[in-house]
Amino acid sequence: MVNTAALKQIDERIIQWLDQVRTMLPAMIKEMDLQTKANRFDLVTNVDKSIEQSFEEMLTKEFPEHQLYGEEAHHDTDRLREGYTWVLDPIDGTANLVKQQDDFCLILGLFYNGEPVLSYIDEFPRQKRFKAIKGEGVYLNDERLSPPPERPLKDCLISFNNKGLNDETMHDLLDASFGYRLIGACGLDSAKVFTGQFGVHIHTNAKPWDIGAQFLFADMLGLKMTNFQQGPIDFIKGGPFIISNKGCYEEMLEILLQKGGYQKA
Ligand code: IPD
Ligand code: CA
Ligand code: CA
Repeated sequence: MVNTAALKQIDERIIQWLDQVRTMLPAMIKEMDLQTKANRFDLVTNVDKSIEQSFEEMLTKEFPEHQLYGEEAHHDTDRLREGYTWVLDPIDGTANLVKQQDDFCLILGLFYNGEPVLSYIDEFPRQKRFKAIKGEGVYLNDERLSPPPERPLKDCLISFNNKGLNDETMHDLLDASFGYRLIGACGLDSAKVFTGQFGVHIHTNAKPWDIGAQFLFADMLGLKMTNFQQGPIDFIKGGPFIISNKGCYEEMLEILLQKGGYQKA
């Protein structure tokens, strides 16, 4: 296992890099150039690509033995369970970046022999940085975060992407909860669960980089993070994903599944 002192050293360098990205971002957004991937809603920009490239360059120089698994250009999965592996979504919420210049973030998680040890979700536009160091603590900027109080579903705001959910199930979920909100960036919807602002976030088909940081936050904040059968999620594969306050997890999944609500998209 990696010791905390080694993780803190890595963390120092990552924070420098994140600060650098934060400083450069306004100029990068001014020069933003938009492209589509699989369809007209699947967006990527030169901002996404250059952040991933910058991270790769930093790793090559400072941590040459670390591997990178990144959304834009690093999809090789051969040896990701060996040693250090970073999972990176350079911009999560690209549609929000393009349409609103708000509500997007970077998601970054470090795994050692397949176990999560360092995690970051950086909401650049609002200067909010969530960070978790295994064995040390969870932070929002300089403030230490504690596990949120347990809450029943009827008292929780809930958040889910609706792909693959039938109308009846969505209505049942809305009726059973306090209300619905969706930011539209998996990292930020998840971070609202870290702080207790949301009770739960569901993504019916999360990619590994949408959730690469959430494993460690969930573990250290006493949250549930599983697939819809309450089983573990493979950090290399992703898939159906729920991150939830313990007080509403069982009921949420029961309603989600009871009327065949979730059909694989
Ligand atoms: C997207 C966001 C969004 C989710 C999509 C993801 P991207 O990530 O997390 O909330 O609903 O499925 O693809 O493409 O902006 O990195
Ligand atoms: Ca994403
Ligand atoms: Ca992305």
